[in-house]
Order: sequence, then C-alpha cells, then structure tokens
Amino acid sequence: MCSSVAAKLWFLTDRRIREDYPQKEILRALKAKCCEEELDFRAVVMDEVVLTIEQGNLGLRINGELITAYPQVVVVRVPTPWVQSDSDITVLRHLEKMGCRLMNRPQAILNCVNKFWTFQELAGHGVPLPDTFSYGKAVFLARDKHHLADLSHLIRHEAPYLFQKYVKESHGRDVRVIVVGGRVVGTMLRCSTDGRMQSNCSLGGVGMMCSLSEQGKQLAIQVSNILGMDVCGIDLLMKDDGSFCVCEANANVGFIAFDKACNLDVAGIIADYAASLLPSGRLTRRMSLLSVVSTASETSEPELGPPASAAVDSMSASSSSVDSDPESTERELLTKLPGGLFNMNQLLANEIELLVE
Ligand SMILES: Nc1ncnc2c1ncn2[C@@H]1O[C@H](COP(=O)(O)OP(=O)(O)OP(=O)(O)O)[C@@H](O)[C@H]1O
Ligand SMILES: [Mg+2]
Repeated sequence: MCSSVAAKLWFLTDRRIREDYPQKEILRALKAKCCEEELDFRAVVMDEVVLTIEQGNLGLRINGELITAYPQVVVVRVPTPWVQSDSDITVLRHLEKMGCRLMNRPQAILNCVNKFWTFQELAGHGVPLPDTFSYGKAVFLARDKHHLADLSHLIRHEAPYLFQKYVKESHGRDVRVIVVGGRVVGTMLRCSTDGRMQSNCSLGGVGMMCSLSEQGKQLAIQVSNILGMDVCGIDLLMKDDGSFCVCEANANVGFIAFDKACNLDVAGIIADYAASLLPSGRLTRRMSLLSVVSTASETSEPELGPPASAAVDSMSASSSSVDSDPESTERELLTKLPGGLFNMNQLLANEIELLVE
C-alpha cells in the first residue's frame, strides 16, 4: 500500500442492518474519529462492491468506481446468522487478500456463524463448555427425555440441531461481556423476566451492569482470542460455585441495551480501536496533500500521527467508566424499570453479588 496516501478507514456493512442502532452508532463514531484524526473515511454497503480479478490481480469497484487506494482498516458489520459464504465472506476474503486489516476478520466471523463451529474452535483449549452434541439454531429447553420426544415432532428435519447440557444454575440469566481488542470493555447481567430459560434482551430480558470475577473476565478474553475476534460479545453461563462457562460468542454483537445498562459508548470504543490498528507512522489527509505538493528536496520524514498507544489510552479511558461505581448505576437503572419489573429485578440485583464477584 502506498505510504504517501492518507490513512484510510472504511466501514463495511449490509444494507439490511445499516439503519440499526449499532451500525448507526459505529458510523457516527468512525466519522467523528476520522474527522478528529484527519483520516480518510468511507462507508460502503456490501451490495455496492464488485470484486475483480483482472490480469491476474485482485481489484475492486464500488458503484462502478474503480478503487485504486485501498483502506488499511475495514470495520465490518455483517449479520452473522445470515452470512453467506458465497457472498459476504467472499468480499471479506478479497479485501483481506488485498492487504486490508478487517475487524472482525472473516475467519473470526465464520467461527461465530453457528454455535457448534464456535465450540469446535474452543474445544481442546481448557475452556469450560457445557457438553454439546451436533449443531443447530433454535434454543429450547427439554426438561427430560419425554419432553424432548414431544418436542422432536416440532423440529424441522432439514434444519441442523444442537443439543446441549442445560446449565440449570444459569436458568434465565447470563452475563454478556463485550471484548474489544482483547480487553473487557463492560459486563452486563441479563435476566429473563418471564421465567423462560433465555435471557436475551430481544426476548424481553432485562440487562443491568454488573461486575465480573477475574475468572469470568479472563474466560471472555481467552474465548475472544481463540476465536480471533477484534470485537465480540461473549455470553457466559453461571455455575453454582461462582465460576462461568461459555454460552455463545457473537461476532456482530448488538449493544443498544449494553450501552444503556453500562452507560458506555461501545461504538466510540470500537472506533478508537479501529484507529489504533492503522499503521503508527500514518499520514493524515493534510500531510498527504503536503507530500504531494512538496519537492523531493523539501521532503522530509513525515511527522507521525498520534501513536497507536494514544488511541489505546483513550480506549481504556472510555472503557474505565465500566468499573466506576457499578452499584449506583444498577440502582439508577432499577428505579427506571417499569413498576412490574421492579421488585423482581431488585431481588435479582441483590443476587448479583452472589452470582458474580
Ligand atoms: N446450555 C444452556 N443452559 C442454560 N441456559 C442456556 C443454555 N444455552 C442457552 N441458554 C440461554 O438461552 C439464551 C440464548 O441462547 P443462545 O445464545 O445460544 O442462542 P441465541 O441467543 O438465540 O442465538 P443467537 O445469539 O445466535 O441469536 C442464552 O443467552 C442463555 O440465557
Ligand atoms: Mg445469544
């Protein structure tokens, strides 16, 4: 990649999800970051990209425009359950082969496409996992083999299945940990409010900021590292002895409830991390322009942009808020919950100390 071209950062997403909260927030944060650091920025939608291999070389067109200067870093948001290896992954592989640093990388995204693939990657690393057989999509609880036999009539036979040991202690509760660049940026306890096993906020579960034991944090980081993730949401199930095991890893983690519960700007943390991945001696837009107009004799070593560590520092500064007084935020959150949920969640909040450190 030509060093006299300004550092380039792209945001690549899918048209079907680009108006959703995480994508809108990431776009906002990346634009702000690139403006602040004078980086070239472009937002690209998957279906605008045409991949080429001409005269034996990889190339790219976007909306018909031939791209000659490629981005160094591409922040990718593709809806993981829909990822098609013959379309989205092909685009990501192409960019990676052209030398772009993708976050997340295509292999990491594939590792999270289905839960069984995730567990295949994690197996053999000493990571606590519930026993799991085969693979599949729908999540339901079969209380015993008779119940399972009843449910089996409902299972569509063309769909793959996953059978997993029920972690009873964690019924209706799990901990969502967001890890960016191998660092825990926040942790949220999710609780179902209707007695069901799933604690997903999208199914009516409520999220509240919580602290997490060192074992929980290290486990989330280890999982993120094994899967090769830059940005991910690791869901942990709780065990009676206070330890955790892995439920799931999400490559395209949503964070609307997380931002709210933890009072965080996850998109801002992602944008800071993306900028930190740019080459440390990068040129800003202004420097790039100057280098074009300067004569060879005037050309000297370009002034370095802010060192990568500055971006990392700012990330840790914004992420440090997660450790700041979780209890008061929890309380604040609880008082805002609808009356019907209040008592139950107050009880749950009281339990947090027992469940997590
Ligand atoms: N083995 C288990 N024991 C207890 N609870 C579980 C178990 N597996 C899943 N759950 C609960 O069900 C919820 C949903 O499960 P999971 O994350 O595997 O699927 P999903 O969220 O529906 O899938 P996706 O995130 O890919 O859309 C978990 O967050 C957890 O609360
Ligand atoms: Mg899940």
